[in-house]
Amino acid sequence: MSLQLITEFDLPDVNIACADNRDFLHSLADESMQLVVTSPPYNIGKSYERRGSLDFYLQEQAAVIAECVRVLRPEGSICWQVGNHVSKDGEVFPLDIVLYPLFKHHNLKLRNRIIWHFEHGLHCRRRLSGRHETILWFTKTDDYVFNLDPIRVPSKYPNKRYFKGPNVGKLSGNPLGKNPGDVWIIPNVKSNHVEKTIHPCQFPVELIERLVLSMTNVDDNVLDPYMGVGSAVIAALMHDRQGYGCDVVQEYVDVAWRRISALRQGTLRTRPMHKPVYDPKLPNGGHW
Ligand SMILES: C[S@@+](CC[C@H](N)C(=O)[O-])C[C@H]1O[C@@H](n2cnc3c(N)ncnc32)[C@H](O)[C@@H]1O
Repeated sequence: MSLQLITEFDLPDVNIACADNRDFLHSLADESMQLVVTSPPYNIGKSYERRGSLDFYLQEQAAVIAECVRVLRPEGSICWQVGNHVSKDGEVFPLDIVLYPLFKHHNLKLRNRIIWHFEHGLHCRRRLSGRHETILWFTKTDDYVFNLDPIRVPSKYPNKRYFKGPNVGKLSGNPLGKNPGDVWIIPNVKSNHVEKTIHPCQFPVELIERLVLSMTNVDDNVLDPYMGVGSAVIAALMHDRQGYGCDVVQEYVDVAWRRISALRQGTLRTRPMHKPVYDPKLPNGGHW
């Protein structure tokens, strides 16, 4: 089936471009974004980056982070999703540790260091295979948006009740479910994932949906300055927020537009937020 391609002229709530992020950020007004959520290159020689010295990488990150802080609203959040930089001799540099001081330089406050655990990836021979990455969640002030109810997950014992005290017999947990905690088990986008595109390391949309739902309200602006194929923009649009993003690779931006077109035409497939992780021990892997 052929899709009619939607463009910037059709969608006032989408602002994406093929551009260097510093140029794109300069075009945005101070304090205009409620959420900046992104995954920068890790300086490990992927197809879309040039491996350079760690010092040079940090200088570039510092410049982009400074601009992200400028465009962030006072009630806003920055989520920087990173893994490890691995040097040519195999030494590992966890990027959240290396980048943390760049955010503290702007007096941002860390609210969570979320562990994103996934089960597939490279098999290492000289160290343990990496099966997690992190999201550093910073806020600009103490007065920040955080909506817990839309991201609650089913409680383990939903019918558990107080067995003594003044509330005896009443439900002890929140009937809407529990706080999802700071360890998130979400499949990464490998070849058999419904969201897989040409991009070698795209976000699973459900990862960003949780951040969008909890850290923004309807109509707020969400920005990804290293947008890739637009997964964060899609998560924003799915929940009636406005999506902003840029990438230097035209091919990725073209895919982002195609995905946005498919979303608007109701044909984009994404992995649903509450779908359990495939478990080979259960019938049909535990999937409905
Ligand atoms: C880790 S990927 C992000 C993928 C994205 N999260 C997604 O879901 O598709 C990093 C992206 O940053 C882009 N990039 C690298 N340097 C950039 C720059 N200076 N400005 C804008 N984008 C850049 C790369 O082309 C790459 O697509």
